[in-house]
Amino acid sequence: MISALAARRVAIGSALVALVCTGALVADHAVAVWRARAEKSRIERLEAQAKTEAAIAAPLHDERKRQTGVSLARETRGRVLAWILLVSGGLFVAAGQRYVSLRPQPLPSLDDLVAVRFAPPKPAKQQTLPASLPATDADDPVDLLSFVDGLVARFGRSRETAIPILQALQAHYRYLPDAALRLVCERTEITPAQIAGTSSFYAQFRRSPVGRHVVRVCHGTACHVAGAEQINQELRRHLGIAPDADTDAQSRFTLDTVACLGCCSLAPVMMIEEETAGRLTPAGARQALDAVEQAT
Ligand code: FES
Repeated sequence: MISALAARRVAIGSALVALVCTGALVADHAVAVWRARAEKSRIERLEAQAKTEAAIAAPLHDERKRQTGVSLARETRGRVLAWILLVSGGLFVAAGQRYVSLRPQPLPSLDDLVAVRFAPPKPAKQQTLPASLPATDADDPVDLLSFVDGLVARFGRSRETAIPILQALQAHYRYLPDAALRLVCERTEITPAQIAGTSSFYAQFRRSPVGRHVVRVCHGTACHVAGAEQINQELRRHLGIAPDADTDAQSRFTLDTVACLGCCSLAPVMMIEEETAGRLTPAGARQALDAVEQAT
């Protein structure tokens, strides 16, 4: 089977041949047009002379023969060039298609990554803060209180501090506990609506607890083509994660999907915490999770 590099070389080579043939055909035709008038007038002149001078008959015959030979040679040359052009054009199309199907997937641009990362949420998913504080949202209410107070002291009470405060909460708890959000609203000018809007707008914020291990399965183009969805389905089945959830019932693993992890040549790829696992099969991905669980 032809490799991507070989397909590329064949495509480039056949394109060059096709270009040369096209150039030669055009040039041949142009020269023929340019010479036609002069050759016709030469024949006419000889014919006129031949009417009065019998000796001109031979040169006239030779000239006609020469012009006929030139014309036949040009026709033969044109036919050969047309065939070469046809074959090289076909080769170019076939090799080009082969190369496009085999070429390495380009990494997405930074703009694409940003666009995916900060894509606005689906309008139907409106998040609201609960009326009461669930006792299980934070590990320790006292710690939670002092942590939130520390954030307020550090960032201030204005509405503009919403994002840094949410980022600090996310970094600390790995999600945004409802209890912490309610405290933030009580101690600052930030409103529940502002928190709901901000936390749902940015993909970095989670509103539900994460498992002990976060697994990011890449669904970028290269990984998608290489079977990312099968990996995802197998992991969800293996962990028993409900269709509308991303974390298993024992809070061992959270499955996250990302646009590209930047190592497309290893597709399909996933990251377990900071460890990258590539060229995965569904069974290999399952075993990687089992190994992580056994090691902890
Ligand atoms: S598409 Fe780039 S790492 Fe998956």
